[in-house]
Amino acid sequence: MTQPDTFAFIIHPIDPKKDVSRKWPLLGKVLTEGQINFFSRFFPPVYISEITGVRSIATGKTVTGWFIACPFTPYTMLHLPVETVYRKIVACGRKAESLGARLLGLGAYTSVVGDGGVTIAERLDLPVTNGDAYTIYMAVEAVREAARRMDLPMSSASAAVVGATGTIASVCAEILSREVPELVLVGRRPDALNEVRERCEGGMARVTVSTDIASVYPCDLILTVTSSVSSVIEPEHLKPGAVVCDVARPRDVSVRVAQARPDVLVIEGGMVEVPGPVDFGFDFGFPPGKSYACMAETMALALEGRYEDYSVGKHISLERVREIGAIAAKHGFRLSGFRSFERAVTDEEIARVRERAAATRRRGWSPG
Ligand SMILES: NC(=O)c1ccc[n+]([C@@H]2O[C@H](COP(=O)([O-])OP(=O)(O)OC[C@H]3O[C@@H](n4cnc5c(N)ncnc54)[C@H](OP(=O)(O)O)[C@@H]3O)[C@@H](O)[C@H]2O)c1
Repeated sequence: MTQPDTFAFIIHPIDPKKDVSRKWPLLGKVLTEGQINFFSRFFPPVYISEITGVRSIATGKTVTGWFIACPFTPYTMLHLPVETVYRKIVACGRKAESLGARLLGLGAYTSVVGDGGVTIAERLDLPVTNGDAYTIYMAVEAVREAARRMDLPMSSASAAVVGATGTIASVCAEILSREVPELVLVGRRPDALNEVRERCEGGMARVTVSTDIASVYPCDLILTVTSSVSSVIEPEHLKPGAVVCDVARPRDVSVRVAQARPDVLVIEGGMVEVPGPVDFGFDFGFPPGKSYACMAETMALALEGRYEDYSVGKHISLERVREIGAIAAKHGFRLSGFRSFERAVTDEEIARVRERAAATRRRGWSPG
């Protein structure tokens, strides 16, 4: 008998009070962020919901999934011993196994901690993917689309990748180095930055490295994807008309940018339209029918019947990125509209950003 096509995906609270409220409104209201960070250590994995209606446009196949919550917050995951975090993620995986899942997707920080899923995959019977390959694919797609809508041809744009030594960012840098003439890699470790620069050589871009976030100031297009728990890009770092694609969760771009810089376009990277009448059974903060790219990777692999460890570890190859892009496109996953600070971005707003950028440039503007 053929087994049903199934998957599970691990989510976890990113904005502790807001995200805990999504499941337990009262607890989210009464507990402080510090209390949530503390108590989350003792919580078991939480069954969140069943996901139905994910249907391939190519084959008509439908897959069913489950959200399982790992109770840890980003702060807890970065501060607890990595072994403690692995044990909790493995417990989530066991819950997924007991539900009948055939593939486990690691969301947000559960894919960042330690070795990016290698240990988790070794300890579980079901295969694992950290979603990074499709996150990379969709992040670059979002940059291309935002550049197009802001009338910034990639072939003459300058770009920056922030957190450039990271798993997702380094491959985004490799792809962008083939499409733009100027690329700045921003990170904290010069040696590691130079290694990424070497991987980017031979493309179209003149590639430079920097450990100073202010180096993004001259850039038209900025893709940022660090694992910092606090913001790294502030209003004074951006020139008028800049496009910033923020793939990080929690965000890299300070909420001050939304308030102080109506002349720049900030978009969240990686929001994907899911094929079929999908019902997630849970509001994780996206409009109905949309998912994070890492979730979409898990669903696309289940639709393709690829029940294997797919994106695991801290190096994702360009071939994997291209392959998952093709698999997902075949089944009907698409770049969705843009969102910025949890709101949809309309064409009118993009037009207003362009007008304001032109006005700011006319007045003469320099970084603070
Ligand atoms: N939107 C989506 O669908 C999606 C999917 C998966 C992951 N994510 C998010 O993507 C982010 C990165 O994931 P990853 O797997 O690429 O992580 P990673 O491999 O651990 O890389 C993180 C990078 O961030 C840098 N970094 C950390 N703290 C920093 C700080 N304070 N200032 C500047 N740079 C800093 C690190 O620098 P060092 O090399 O110096 O340590 C490293 O280069 C996370 O926020 C994750 O939640 C989003």
